Amino acid sequence: MEVFEGIDALRNKLEELKKAGKTIGFVPTMGALHQGHCSLVQRSKSETDCTVVSVFVNPTQFNDKKDLENYPRSFENDSKLLEKLDTDIVFFPSVKEMYPEDSNELWDFGMLDKVMEGAHRPGHFNGVAIIVKKLFDIVMPQKAYFGLKDFQQLTIIKELVRRLKYPIEIVECEIVRDTDGLAMSSRNVLLSTEERNHAVNISKTLFHAKSKVPEMSINEIETFVVDTLNNDGLLTVEYFQIVDNVALQAVKSWNEPSIKVGCVAVKVGTIRLIDNIVFSV
Ligand code: PAJ
Repeated sequence: MEVFEGIDALRNKLEELKKAGKTIGFVPTMGALHQGHCSLVQRSKSETDCTVVSVFVNPTQFNDKKDLENYPRSFENDSKLLEKLDTDIVFFPSVKEMYPEDSNELWDFGMLDKVMEGAHRPGHFNGVAIIVKKLFDIVMPQKAYFGLKDFQQLTIIKELVRRLKYPIEIVECEIVRDTDGLAMSSRNVLLSTEERNHAVNISKTLFHAKSKVPEMSINEIETFVVDTLNNDGLLTVEYFQIVDNVALQAVKSWNEPSIKVGCVAVKVGTIRLIDNIVFSV
């Protein structure tokens, strides 16, 4: 496993590999790696010749300064984990390396970045688009791997690649959950034991809701999820919305032909978690 901190050195290495006919798979992350990230790396390893993982806590996507300060950083552990997975290349740049000067790039993804996370975290997806474009420009992989855990992010990145006409295949990877159902997240390590015990109600409630479809209407499901979660003393729902998986527009009836995804953001104490579930009707 080779670790690169500089863009030029990584570019040179990748150029060599591409010249030798190697296919490149890319897994962008913000570190504090868990089994969810590992599943992306394993998928990339099985589908491409050389897997590049980036570890960079991207400041421009944090709308809340405290959240950026508190975001877990554990490069030593990450590095060990990536080594175990037989990762080929790790890119671990500094903020200065990625942002020699402040970026004023502005992205507008229409409705895609106005709803849900976009509405509650102003500027978040602009920061994601800026950094993912920068990383794609450096790595230019054949395939890039993203988790369905961040369903809206994945939709926006597919749109980014479509608009830029980049020859990159975006591979969608299933949500990896703890044995009790909680979606794995780097932020889970910030939960106290008590908060962790309550956080499991997020996925439990989503699974419960899924089992009540189509007997319950969209409206009834939305009320059920919001009320159940808010009735747990430690949880506060920011939003729960059932949207179609392409335009991310609110679905009004189970009879609509789209794939329907229920997306939720919940505060557990001060920690904000997201999760989602596909309703198969
Ligand atoms: P991060 O939160 O570190 O996530 C990196 C990738 O891992 C994302 O594609 C995310 O969807 C995926 N992932 C996280 N938890 C997962 C889980 N439980 N199951 C499956 N996949 C999971 O997402 C980001 O970083 C950043 O926004 C980034 C794209 C790197 C840009 O800075």
